[in-house]
Amino acid sequence: MSRSVFIKKKIPRFNKIIKVSGDKSISIRWILFASIADGVSKARNLLRSEDVMASIETIKKLGIKVILSPNLCTVYGRGLNGYIFKKNLIINARNSGTLGRLILGILVNAPKTIKLIGDKSLSKRDFKRIAEPLSKFGAKFILKNNKTLPLKITGSSNLKPITYFEKRGSAQCKTSVIFAGMKSPGTTVINSKKSRNHTELLCKYLNLPVTVKNKKNYDEIKIKKVEKIKPINYNIPSDISSSAFFMVLTALNFNSELVIKNVNVNQSRIGIITILRKMGVKIILKNKKIYKGEKNADIKIIGPKMLRGINCPTNLNSGAIDEFLVIFLVAAKAKGISYFKNLGELNQKESPRLKWGGKILKQMGVKIIEKKDSIKIFGDPNLILDKKIIIKDYLKDHRVFMTSVIAALSFGGKWEIHDKDSIKSSFPDFLNIIKKLNS
Ligand code: S3P
Repeated sequence: MSRSVFIKKKIPRFNKIIKVSGDKSISIRWILFASIADGVSKARNLLRSEDVMASIETIKKLGIKVILSPNLCTVYGRGLNGYIFKKNLIINARNSGTLGRLILGILVNAPKTIKLIGDKSLSKRDFKRIAEPLSKFGAKFILKNNKTLPLKITGSSNLKPITYFEKRGSAQCKTSVIFAGMKSPGTTVINSKKSRNHTELLCKYLNLPVTVKNKKNYDEIKIKKVEKIKPINYNIPSDISSSAFFMVLTALNFNSELVIKNVNVNQSRIGIITILRKMGVKIILKNKKIYKGEKNADIKIIGPKMLRGINCPTNLNSGAIDEFLVIFLVAAKAKGISYFKNLGELNQKESPRLKWGGKILKQMGVKIIEKKDSIKIFGDPNLILDKKIIIKDYLKDHRVFMTSVIAALSFGGKWEIHDKDSIKSSFPDFLNIIKKLNS
């Protein structure tokens, strides 16, 4: 049964301080690193969402003990090659592309065949992009239609290092290959289009033999065989991709003010801040700190009187890849035409998001020109809705749901938004925070 939310009223002006849940990318990476570390790792503020629970279930199936208490997650790592599991193991990555792709890198030398499955959305996504480089290390894959889940992986005991050109800007593919490189003799080289670099920063913090040279348009990453990973205690910062919904809600609400506490503002993740600033939103970073190589800060946003359209530079695409749906709403209210291009990757996400961005805007009556990998949005600073809008059948993509809620609260109209449970995959607390802002 799809549970829906009904929204009939715009949110009144607000001035609040909030905290959002832990960063999803860092939470999943921490779980996987902790599972192959030697000894006990502990994390605070780990995101409690279905993608993260699927990651915990996965390492448990691989023989790793995990204890979850309300404030703490403890993982009893068994070393780089310490997974123990029976024949015919099935791992279910559910909705999580990050888990599905990253775990395959660690399983590149798994001695027994493992089947990887996922939910309806994940089963439509491209796994060839990761099976291909991992096959070059020596692992064997069988994929449905040569491309998707379910897949079977059989690891190799005779891994060879590879040279890999990561051209999409996919941090998932990059990270998976880093894991495989850590298990292979010799030096694996990745020339990677810029993407989020949490894995590289963790490797640096852990003193692993992984080096990164930042070139103009790409990063050259060299990975040598790792002998041992020390345990990692981690206090996970809040997620900028979850914060993005409230940043935009504030940007669309003149004179509202919001502070979001201790958010990860890693340079490779802050595309939304740069884009919103270019569109006329005042954003201030306070209490900046460096924690385990990651930059964290409180983000203060003030809703401006007028927003400007943007011809969005493509070098901001990867740093805002999960935020475009909600950024499109800002463009809908901005003065002038906004143009977002080279965004084909958006259609590779939990749903075809570029298409869904267009669909939501069209239902709102916003003029757009959509192409295969770009969208032009004709903004209207006076946009107010009064009609009925139903959002459904979007493969339960959490970010489609949350974007629709922000649109309803910002532009008015009578919205019926299906599949409320979709938020559980990344941000179960989303509607509770909305209630807090609305009270
Ligand atoms: C992620 C990388 C991105 C992003 C996803 C999380 C990660 O995906 O969209 O939500 O944690 O590495 P791609 O690697 O497919 O770009």
